[in-house]
Amino acid sequence: MKHRFFISLIFVLIWGQNGVCSETLVVRERININRDWRYQENDPVGVDSALHYFRLKPYLLPCANNFIIFGKKHRRPEGNPGGNIAYVSSDFDDSGWRQLNLPHDWAIEGPFNIDYMGSTGKLPYWGIRWYRKTFELTESDAGKQIYLDIDGAMSYASVWCNGQYVGGWPYGYASFRLDLTPYIKVGQKNVLAIRLDNPDDASRWYPGSGIYRNVWLLKTSPVHVEQWGTFVRNVQLNQEKAIMEMGVNVENHAGKDVQVEVRTGIYLQDENGHPMGDKVAQYITKSIAIKKDSWASARFQFEVDAPKLWSIDTPNCYVAVSRIFKDGQEVDCYETPFGIRTIEFTHDQGFMLNGRKVAIKGVCMHHDLGALGAAFNKVAAERQLRIMKEMGANAIRTSHNPPAPELVALCDRMGLMMQLELADTWQKGKRKNDYNLLFDDWSEADMRSLVRHYRNHPSVIMWSIGNEVPDQMTDQGIIIARNLTAYCHDEDPTRPTSLGCNKRDAIFRDIVNQVDIFGLNYFHKTYPLFKEYNPTRRYHASETSSATSSRGEYFFPVTTHVDDSRSGFQLSSYDMTTIGWGCAPEVQFKMNEEYPFMSGEFVWTGFDYLGEPTPYNKDLTNLLNFSDPAELEKARKELEELGKIKTPSRSSYFGIVDLCGFPKDRYYNYKSYWCPDVPTVHILPHWNWEERIGKITPVHIYTSGDAVELFLNGKPLGRREKIHSYDRLTWDDVHYEPGVLKAVAYKNGQKWAEEVVETTGKPAALQVTPEKTVLKNDGTDLSFIRVAIVDSKGRAVPRSKNHLKFSVSGPAEIVATDNGDATSLLPFQLSERDAYNGLALVILRGKYMEQGKVILTVESKGLPKQKVILKVK
Ligand code: GAL
Repeated sequence: MKHRFFISLIFVLIWGQNGVCSETLVVRERININRDWRYQENDPVGVDSALHYFRLKPYLLPCANNFIIFGKKHRRPEGNPGGNIAYVSSDFDDSGWRQLNLPHDWAIEGPFNIDYMGSTGKLPYWGIRWYRKTFELTESDAGKQIYLDIDGAMSYASVWCNGQYVGGWPYGYASFRLDLTPYIKVGQKNVLAIRLDNPDDASRWYPGSGIYRNVWLLKTSPVHVEQWGTFVRNVQLNQEKAIMEMGVNVENHAGKDVQVEVRTGIYLQDENGHPMGDKVAQYITKSIAIKKDSWASARFQFEVDAPKLWSIDTPNCYVAVSRIFKDGQEVDCYETPFGIRTIEFTHDQGFMLNGRKVAIKGVCMHHDLGALGAAFNKVAAERQLRIMKEMGANAIRTSHNPPAPELVALCDRMGLMMQLELADTWQKGKRKNDYNLLFDDWSEADMRSLVRHYRNHPSVIMWSIGNEVPDQMTDQGIIIARNLTAYCHDEDPTRPTSLGCNKRDAIFRDIVNQVDIFGLNYFHKTYPLFKEYNPTRRYHASETSSATSSRGEYFFPVTTHVDDSRSGFQLSSYDMTTIGWGCAPEVQFKMNEEYPFMSGEFVWTGFDYLGEPTPYNKDLTNLLNFSDPAELEKARKELEELGKIKTPSRSSYFGIVDLCGFPKDRYYNYKSYWCPDVPTVHILPHWNWEERIGKITPVHIYTSGDAVELFLNGKPLGRREKIHSYDRLTWDDVHYEPGVLKAVAYKNGQKWAEEVVETTGKPAALQVTPEKTVLKNDGTDLSFIRVAIVDSKGRAVPRSKNHLKFSVSGPAEIVATDNGDATSLLPFQLSERDAYNGLALVILRGKYMEQGKVILTVESKGLPKQKVILKVK
């Protein structure tokens, strides 16, 4: 006790100096408990199948144990369900179970099975799994509230602590909190047992599996700030001053009524999301009364002089540090990262950020991280965002679900806007075990918690209440949309709601009026109708393009349709192929320019992702995208034909970059258009066509310039001028001869950029390029290492498929390898793989708490072995 008081005193002294929560803080501890879990497949033999009610009757699932969340008490089974299962008991000997660290996605370990659904990645993601974790609480934890925060568990999580049922949350993408306080034992070992029951046939893409996001233990005093219990927003903003309003909800488990004072200091945010420098503003409330077992809200305003606005170019962020005092003693300290900015969607000009028009250059992203599966890794997520940002993207749509919390914080700091989405279905499902099974009981909690969780993040510009929900055309859908919008507005009156619709006729229905901004997926030809039909509404292009291609594949003659006979289940990177409901990028660019009120677009997709390998995807839900009866019939026939053959494809072809993050040609189309001031000129295809000598081999060029001259072996092939900024330039009559293709781009009459593509020699060497060479030894840091097959002059050999073997020495391990080939069914964990069109990727992870030199060796028959040196520290 004495000890605690002393530490509190030190803290108070530290606060006295700079007013920021310090490391020595004892009032709130958030401990990552990802390490050292035990894991086991299936229920123990003899478990009564009654346990299956956790999945089959989701309405029985309690949320957040016996806690009242969002003003609604969810039903909870009586007694201690599952308490008789050996696995939940503290005494159970789990030493024979597999030991692992979270985040963990069991399905990414495979094996791939060609007979499984391509739509979900041909990976075994379904089934029952158990996780157990032993953790210690010391005597000093007596009297504290102990919470378990799970950022995401796929899915139908049920949690026991020391043999007692605590609660759970079924939606695999939701972040949730459980109160462990009634079940813990201080001064002893405690055991958590978590059962997941991931249903099959529940998703149109690879959902992943397992406790695939971070897990935290939170220790607070009985009087503390509620989960996501703060809200900061600007009420008035100009260059000189921002007037901000803040609410801080404090909950009281002290067993009696209490009085608290909330002292909030405002700071600029450092790169880790914490306060830095001196306080820029503060507010101290008067005493607030909180009844026993209840909560109360402190509401106040503060002013920030000369506010540093958040924008995509200057992503300035602040932190509000709220310290709660009871009887003069500090009992909690809570940080709220936020940003100051304005957003507005207008009905004529589109989207405005800080009063300035910003066209949304957005990409839709699924949650998987390629070869790492769904297991969240911040370094990998940051890399994805960096690749997108470098291409010129300024927005991310987390299709079609709530994200990992770290992703939102990354977007805040990297200057990327976000649209966060609830789900892919409402009451009407697309798959047998879809979110529709949960919708009636959980959608309010899922919607509200999504909004409450992220409403302070400046990157978030709108809430999407759903994607292509089949209910969009029903009267019931109108009621649902109205309710979901109301929950969003209730939690956050500052941001609009949206719904991505895929039925053309939805635009004529009242569903349009139930969201703040009506989102239309595809159907770009419909934009003119919007103004004609419902001119005062606001709209946006919630999903666009769905172009498909495989990196480095080119088929001749160049056509706009998929021709299986030539493809080996790949798709041509001439970027002319689109699926029934999609369009080439430049077709969409044209529409964006002509209809600025659509605010820009969210392209499907930034990265390739696991599952949904359309057009080699047998998933019948593809048919939902057709409104026209003739097109629907054609698509049905095609799917029927596809159903008759075995298809190896297990990941998408939609990505602008492949599953490794290597750019496809389309990347340069987006970069040219989205970054008009960056000199870009890109030639396609490659120029290694020994079988095509003398044959017509079209050359296409993407450039941010306005004209290009093309030369083949020094001979001019002509100059092409753009008519529109989005044009691609084409030379359709080039007769192939080996040698050098050179493109010189011009802008406003000046030379702007140049690119050369050469016929290379045979593979002669390996070029190994780590994206980073120094890794932290926190057990999560990764280096992505690109391996290219090059000729004797160091030029990447385009069609090379050399077999590569990787080995590592020192304190690092190979977590995954990949090459971007959507048809490869080799496990990602293998340390060997063929290059795919000249490239492969190795992902190395530094070992926990170890340090030293790491050597990655890459070998390939007939080529000199190559080593790179990295360091873990
Ligand atoms: C959309 C859908 C996406 C994805 C895409 C493929 O209709 O919203 O989830 O399936 O089609 O083109």
